[in-house]
Amino acid sequence: MTQDPPTSDVVLDVRDLVKRYPGADVPAVQGVSLQLHRGEVLGLLGPNGAGKTTTVEILTGFRSRTSGTVSLLGLDPGKRDDLRELRRRVGVVLQHTGHYRYLTARETIAMHRAWYDDPREVDEVVELAGLTECADQRVRKLSGGQQRRLDVGVALVGRPEVIFLDEPTTGFDPAARRRAWDVILELTRLGTSVVLTTHYMEEASRLADRVVVLGAGRVVGSGAPEQLARDLQLGTMIRASLPPEVTPADVPDAIRAGLVAPGRFELRVDAPAEALGQLCTWAVERGLRLEDLDVRAPSLEESYLALTGEQSDPADATPEPAGVVA
Ligand SMILES: Nc1ncnc2c1ncn2[C@@H]1O[C@H](COP(=O)(O)OP(=O)(O)OP(=O)(O)O)[C@@H](O)[C@H]1O
Ligand SMILES: [Mg+2]
Repeated sequence: MTQDPPTSDVVLDVRDLVKRYPGADVPAVQGVSLQLHRGEVLGLLGPNGAGKTTTVEILTGFRSRTSGTVSLLGLDPGKRDDLRELRRRVGVVLQHTGHYRYLTARETIAMHRAWYDDPREVDEVVELAGLTECADQRVRKLSGGQQRRLDVGVALVGRPEVIFLDEPTTGFDPAARRRAWDVILELTRLGTSVVLTTHYMEEASRLADRVVVLGAGRVVGSGAPEQLARDLQLGTMIRASLPPEVTPADVPDAIRAGLVAPGRFELRVDAPAEALGQLCTWAVERGLRLEDLDVRAPSLEESYLALTGEQSDPADATPEPAGVVA
């Protein structure tokens, strides 16, 4: 990975981070470097056990590191005095958290306000985190998704400059997840910088300006989602149904590979305009309407699966390999 030199725009600069848990043969984090810029959402992606939570815990001062350097808002979360200041300026939603079970959601937020110089009002946090309906419920009676919303609320109390969100929307219903996305985007508009780990590729695509993909403790890919797909040369998928009597000999040479089965056209191309032009010109000449023509740019999920060497979900896979044009 190439690295930009640090600039004032960089709020988090991590170099060669290594974490070896006691007794482990292989380090959980093996030389991770990454940067976060002001107002940016950085998606930290990777399979279970890739080292995301370990990284987030080190960057937020909840875990020690074996080696490497970390500069967060110019401070080092591995140093006690720096960490005291970071606790006031950084919000964290850890993967595993807990609150006092007998306090209500509102009381929990109120309690956390005491740590900060200029905290948000309780009602504002209740609103932001989507806790209005359950603000007066005791924590022990909140559903899993509601408890997670409380975690997010607690992370927002202190008007943090940087927020770390480790799988913040796990357990959210679809509407709550979308509302959480709006909140995160609104925070970035106000200049907050966000590190977000998630297994939801749609979430990462919607929110992340750049992603860093970890595999077995190493960075296996990084960049803007569209750039990742370009670097991996995944190509654009063109699909259409054709009358079953169309034979390969009927299809123009340049797009012939797309006829993958009787009646089915599927072609992955680097130059979609050219291939589409050929397909459409030919179809119009033949009087074919191509009613279900589908043109799809590679998704972040495809890039992610290519980088982590994982298989696509068989349910999404096409029954037969699609033709490929260089
Ligand atoms: N407290 C610990 N002690 C020893 N090993 C640990 C500890 N926490 C995590 N590990 C190991 O470190 C590796 C990375 O774990 P980590 O929790 O950072 O992964 P992750 O990317 O967050 O995974 P997930 O997507 O499941 O949350 C795993 O092999 C895990 O077993
Ligand atoms: Mg984790």
